[in-house]
Amino acid sequence: MVDESTTAVSRTPILGAALRAKILELTPRYPSKRAVTLPALHLVHDHLRCVPLAAMAEIAEILEITPAEVHDTMSFYGFFPQAPIGDVRVWICRSLSCMLRGGDELLEHACRHLRLEPGQTTPDGAITLEFAECLGVCDFAPAAVADDGRVFGPLDEQKVEEMLAELKRGRKPPG
Ligand code: FES
Repeated sequence: MVDESTTAVSRTPILGAALRAKILELTPRYPSKRAVTLPALHLVHDHLRCVPLAAMAEIAEILEITPAEVHDTMSFYGFFPQAPIGDVRVWICRSLSCMLRGGDELLEHACRHLRLEPGQTTPDGAITLEFAECLGVCDFAPAAVADDGRVFGPLDEQKVEEMLAELKRGRKPPG
């Protein structure tokens, strides 16, 4: 017979009480708990800078849905990384307006400059570099947007290097 007292794995919740309370506070504003999935993912992402599997399961528990439903929402948007990301996350656009002006080549240039692949983070944890579809700043094509709100463009190879140097100095101060 298995002694459950010795086999049970104690699991410390990844979402603290305050964050759980914030998620629950959202529920009256939505037609169902399921509809809170996306804002809950944003809250967790803002707090942890990623949404690990354990956090997905806890969101599901709070919202009384399945972890698969949380995962579906998360993967549909493609915005939420599962592992911690760099201090600054930057997306280089590869949609039409930017592509026609060399966006793909500039993404390759940025990858070569940082010695990483899209989706990876520099070894010092400063920058996570990704590609994105239209970032909504086509006037600045070819363009990039950082997750602290900075918009870069029109870019060329030299401006990509200047952008990366600026991003390495850290996030834009809030306000
Ligand atoms: S196509 Fe690149 S920002 Fe719109």
